[in-house]
Amino acid sequence: MNVEGITVRFGGVVALEDVTFEARAGEVLGVIGPNGAGKTTLFNVIGGVQPPSAGRVVLDGNVLTALPVHRIAALGVTRTFQTPVMFWGLTVRESIVVALAARHRRVERALIPAGLGLPGERAELERLGRDADALLAGTPLEAHVASPTESLSFGQERMLEILRALAIEPRVLLLDEPLSGLSGDEIARVLALVRSARERGVCVLFVEHDLANLLAAADRFVVLDHGKKIAEGIPDAIVNDPIVLDAYIGDEIVA
Ligand SMILES: Nc1ncnc2c1ncn2[C@@H]1O[C@H](COP(=O)(O)OP(=O)(O)OP(=O)(O)O)[C@@H](O)[C@H]1O
Ligand SMILES: [Mg+2]
Repeated sequence: MNVEGITVRFGGVVALEDVTFEARAGEVLGVIGPNGAGKTTLFNVIGGVQPPSAGRVVLDGNVLTALPVHRIAALGVTRTFQTPVMFWGLTVRESIVVALAARHRRVERALIPAGLGLPGERAELERLGRDADALLAGTPLEAHVASPTESLSFGQERMLEILRALAIEPRVLLLDEPLSGLSGDEIARVLALVRSARERGVCVLFVEHDLANLLAAADRFVVLDHGKKIAEGIPDAIVNDPIVLDAYIGDEIVA
């Protein structure tokens, strides 16, 4: 995916200014920077909910910034939010089934001409339920498959949000501070999920404030400050870059 010269202005505020970088399939790209640097705005642009003032985002020849949100999602761009977004009223299993169904529809749209009948809905739902259970097996949510999402702890909500995003089999996964509010054990589990996504060739963009955790997970970094890209490179280079250290003075720095 190529982010090319993205600028976003909110009135007089320049949230992003001419930001350009490449994010590759099968890599975890850490997107870091102090509060207000423009990280969430960048995700909003890639996901199509924030039109840029200038620039474009290109994924495999598709200009995402020219497409509506649902077309961008159909191309396999998915995200998690700074505050987990749950489907209230559904169980954990049903939440995953919804995501799996969305993926199947994407595949069907690509393979089957419109108008052809879909397979029996009930059998299909049962199959999706089994797929959901397989995806949840071995995760901390395994014991909660039939629980309503309202009953989950914050950490469990985060885990469900990430598993739901992975169930879609995204090509680009945008994670906005997925570790905040999690325990050490939960952090390890989320990082393991991220590594497995990378191994399957997903392009993961990872916003995180706790650099110590991201250093272990990211292949490369893009550093934003006041909307500008101030550095890009491998973890070792980034943590020793005086420009990066300078931007973080007064903010959190490597724990
Ligand atoms: N909808 C909006 N309207 C006006 N200004 C906005 C809007 N969204 C973001 N901004 C401003 O754009 C800048 C970048 O915000 P953004 O939320 O992208 O930063 P961030 O890097 O995600 O910060 P944080 O680390 O606190 O999550 C900030 O100055 C913010 O106040
Ligand atoms: Mg943010």
